Amino acid sequence: MKRPTPYTASAQLYDVISFEWPVYRAGRAAAIDLLSLPTGSHVLDIGCGTGLNFSLLQQQIGPSGSITGVDASAQMLDQARRRSDSAGWSNVTLIEADATTVDAAELGDERRFDAAIATYALSLMAEWESALNTMIAATRPGGDVAVVDMQKPTGAAAVWTPLARLACRLGGSDIDAHPWTTMTRQLTEVRSASVRGGHIQVRVGSVLPD
Ligand SMILES: C[S@@+](CC[C@H](N)C(=O)[O-])C[C@H]1O[C@@H](n2cnc3c(N)ncnc32)[C@H](O)[C@@H]1O
Repeated sequence: MKRPTPYTASAQLYDVISFEWPVYRAGRAAAIDLLSLPTGSHVLDIGCGTGLNFSLLQQQIGPSGSITGVDASAQMLDQARRRSDSAGWSNVTLIEADATTVDAAELGDERRFDAAIATYALSLMAEWESALNTMIAATRPGGDVAVVDMQKPTGAAAVWTPLARLACRLGGSDIDAHPWTTMTRQLTEVRSASVRGGHIQVRVGSVLPD
């Protein structure tokens, strides 16, 4: 059964109200840099929203690659479709599904993807471990899984914690979910980055052989 998310009425405004350029762009850019995908890669984007990862991914994968975006909100997917149509990306497939219950096999051939990414999405899902397991199951051995998500800012940036908490609450995210914590035992060669005063955490790990 599909689960309602806050990303229905606000979908058309998301790109404007989401602090993309001042704050959150840096996290997706760091993750996609770490992925460093070869041309022709097939990528799964879980909780893809309006498709803000797509242009950065397209720069790496090119037209011979593909992006499969999954989101529970039809309204967010409408925006992602508009973005893809206006950019002329014919290699994007959009699937409306709950990432915590969808089977990896429903997203394409099992283990078809060269990489999977979830940016600012898993912390919205109480059962984020199920979504992360699906990302891993859908990625071929040796492929990469990337998670970008939020925590309270650290060090001198901790003064921004109330603002970070507010932003997460408004977006429906749990700032204390830390949905990257299991990656070190589920994946190998986990690389990390931390941006925006530690508020944004990036992890990229490789899927183990069968
Ligand atoms: C904060 S937005 C992030 C969107 C995009 N990844 C980005 O970086 O801009 C979170 C997205 O996760 C989606 N989402 C929340 N729960 C979900 C679930 N259980 N399954 C699939 N998508 C979900 C929402 O609909 C929303 O589009």
